[in-house]
Amino acid sequence: MKLLVTGGAGYVGSVCAAHLLEAGHEVVVLDDLSTGHKDSVPPGAELVEGELGATAGEVLGRGGFDGVLHFAARSLVGESVEKPELYWDGNVVASFRLLEAIREHGVPRLVFSSTAATYGEPEEVPIRETAPTRPTNPYGASKLAIDHMITSYAAAHGLAATSLRYFNVAGAHVTDELKLGERHAVETHLIPLVLQVASGTREHISMFGEDWPTPDGTCVRDYIHVDDLAEAHLLALANATPGEHSIYNLGSGHGFSVREVVETCRAVTGHPIPAVVAPRRAGDPAVLVASSEQAQEKLGWTPTRTDIGQIVSDAWEFVRSR
Ligand code: UFG
Repeated sequence: MKLLVTGGAGYVGSVCAAHLLEAGHEVVVLDDLSTGHKDSVPPGAELVEGELGATAGEVLGRGGFDGVLHFAARSLVGESVEKPELYWDGNVVASFRLLEAIREHGVPRLVFSSTAATYGEPEEVPIRETAPTRPTNPYGASKLAIDHMITSYAAAHGLAATSLRYFNVAGAHVTDELKLGERHAVETHLIPLVLQVASGTREHISMFGEDWPTPDGTCVRDYIHVDDLAEAHLLALANATPGEHSIYNLGSGHGFSVREVVETCRAVTGHPIPAVVAPRRAGDPAVLVASSEQAQEKLGWTPTRTDIGQIVSDAWEFVRSR
């Protein structure tokens, strides 16, 4: 298939682009490089440098696209609270322009990066797709708004669409030829921050709260390997039905506490990784674990890299390759 990958110079987008190329697809990446990196675009993909809302129509207007995988987004929860306008514009307005371009040029398929943040504070864990969606920040709200837009476009215009709601994406894509991982200028995610301590660029890791209602008092999250996540995108592309919008949660189904993640990083890197307890971070739910039953049943997806040791060691291999 000929595919447009928006945000294909970013962490998840670049790994998915690599998987798509490996499967024999033709890939055009559209990225404004505001947070992505030119050298993350895998060899074999064409890079079009441009802002999503302004450029999507031009690129899709070339014709012949079989699908769009839409990763481009702003994704900092804290920033979304401080500057919501960036999220309504950069996520919602730009995605609306993309959907219009998809409609205008008759592109049949769309796979969208949604998020666990659309659910907000869960009532029940593991979280199913039927759980109430009550995002607690503008980031999650902007992704939920896009999900709603997509539902309406699928119903009205026959688009075959899938939203994948990621839990905590982690790990890296490491092969002999290619090493793609997380390298954000503003890093907020736990595993890369802990590995910065191991590589000597950060003195200690702050653990946000140790008085949560969890077994060891630190927050529990569901870490999903970015290669498993990429495989779900290929399955979503292959299994989509015209006129339908399917929504799937993607996680490994296992929860690991912040303390367990730090311990795993110590074991993998051999570094003592000093950790200090800091106050809770505003808006953090205590436990987020996905039920991915639907993705497993309907897409035939099985995450195989669920060992937290492997997730961390792939991320560590990526850090050391830089
Ligand atoms: N944490 C720390 N110290 C740090 C960084 C994080 O203790 O320096 C903790 C957080 O409090 C949280 C856990 O580590 O309990 C994971 O935090 P991340 O920031 O890595 O990930 P989040 O669970 O906050 O966020 C992820 C995605 C978001 C998405 C959210 C859904 O990265 O994009 O899940 O709730 F919005």
